[in-house]
Amino acid sequence: MTTLTAADLYPKVAHVVPAVEWATMADDVDAIMRLKQERNAVILAHNYMTPEIFHGVSDIVGDSLALAREAIDVEADVIVLAGVHFMAETAKLLNPSKTVLIPDLRSGCSLAESITPEDVRALRAANPGVPVVTYVNTSAAVKAESDICCTSGNAVKVIESLGVPKVIMIPDRFLAANVARQTGVEVIVHPGACEVHERFTPNDIRQVRLENPGITVLAHPECPPEVVDEADYAGSTAQMVKFVDAKRPLKVALITECSMSDNVSEAYPDIEFIRPCNLCPHMKRNTLAVIRHALETMTNEVTVPEDVADRARLAVERMLAVGK
Ligand code: 13P
Ligand code: SF4
Repeated sequence: MTTLTAADLYPKVAHVVPAVEWATMADDVDAIMRLKQERNAVILAHNYMTPEIFHGVSDIVGDSLALAREAIDVEADVIVLAGVHFMAETAKLLNPSKTVLIPDLRSGCSLAESITPEDVRALRAANPGVPVVTYVNTSAAVKAESDICCTSGNAVKVIESLGVPKVIMIPDRFLAANVARQTGVEVIVHPGACEVHERFTPNDIRQVRLENPGITVLAHPECPPEVVDEADYAGSTAQMVKFVDAKRPLKVALITECSMSDNVSEAYPDIEFIRPCNLCPHMKRNTLAVIRHALETMTNEVTVPEDVADRARLAVERMLAVGK
């Protein structure tokens, strides 16, 4: 198989990366493309990766749900998860024989860090018999204490699949509140939030509408409910792409992480993307340099202790079985 070079890949990023900037990235891009072949590795990249990673060096891209599903079928020996730590753990849970690397071990998540296994056990003890639905943005140890996982792309379906009037939904209080409104199921919450999405305000959206009459506004369900109320649609990052593809609005604002618009706009040159956005410092730890380093040195492997993995895998697999 021929290895694509930085020159071959440039047209995919030309809409957002100036040629002079790409020239400074070419050495890392070429090295990563070569190392992927040498190591028999694939790069799974979340939608919040910068365009040189998302369009340039990655093999599979998507939202949290898609990356989890795709990880199962990876045949290569090595998975590099260009995203955050919980995503790498989920890939390891679902394809345990592979070596899973994270480019920077410090790529955390404010949601994952907001809750411990002890917190989950305390919630269970205080609410006997109420099932625990855990957002994938958590550690494997927290997943191991849960009945079932969900992502922002399937949270409503997962809750409805349980057929119960009340759930413990952790750790994102805003996602839980948004889902409660959509399902009518009572949710017991934990006070976690995404540091990117909690910062948006209803006024941000009103301002965008004022400055861009007729604009379509899509918000991520990790945003506070009063922000979602101001939007035309709320959905996971993949659901936002689907919406844009189906409706083809002339102007759109994606109320989420900043790289999202850069990545989606490549396929839709006729759509104007207005960019009120917040950066995720954890996602932004992923750079070409650290991806190259991880592949060169085969360091930053993500593993999950077997007893935790077995229980956490069950919660993730129950989620994946919903809607199949
Ligand atoms: P999704 O891509 O599943 O919508 O998740 C967004 C997010 O914040 C991941 O960290
Ligand atoms: Fe976590 Fe929010 Fe960053 Fe996603 S965007 S990794 S939920 S802090």
